[in-house]
Amino acid sequence: MNGVRANMRYRRFAVTPFFLFLVTPLYSGQEQSSLGIWEGIYTEAQATRGQTVYQAECASCHRQDLTGQDMSPSLVGVGFSFKWQGRNVQELYASMRYGMPQIAPGSLSNRAYADLTAFLLFSNGFPSGDGELSSDEDQLALIEISRKP
Ligand code: HEC
Repeated sequence: MNGVRANMRYRRFAVTPFFLFLVTPLYSGQEQSSLGIWEGIYTEAQATRGQTVYQAECASCHRQDLTGQDMSPSLVGVGFSFKWQGRNVQELYASMRYGMPQIAPGSLSNRAYADLTAFLLFSNGFPSGDGELSSDEDQLALIEISRKP
């Protein structure tokens, strides 16, 4: 009985974020450009945390310098831009959040996956800034991995 009531309450509130998600793109034209990937969407400290996680969880396959080996693709340079340019940061985040490390997908915290995303952006020459990259996938989906303007 309690469970049913809690569930109904949940459903009423669940409509709100979904509605915002639909409306946001219409009104956030300004905001979106202030979140441009070339204006600094992660902090240096965050990329450094990501590097620590990377060396522990990822380097055994993708190598310490991120250039990849065997079946593990390079995560820097042309290998990175060929795959990710024109996509958005949520897609990059999700490829790790739901697929990596390959032997234990999803085993890290959302924050660690955001930190890893920051480290990959840093390693591919995208600038750091004042605010941390969040792990909110709706927000990440608004940020395009674009060419340097
Ligand atoms: C056991 C080996 C292994 C480990 C450990 C591993 N990866 Fe991978 N990774 C792969 C392989 C193989 C692929 C390509 C196949 C796939 O996408 O599943 C891949 C694909 C990726 C991709 C997509 C790249 C592209 O061009 O498609 C990213 C990003 C990535 N890995 C990041 C990471 C991160 C970050 C970690 C650490 C949390 C990690 N990987 C740990 C083997 C590994």
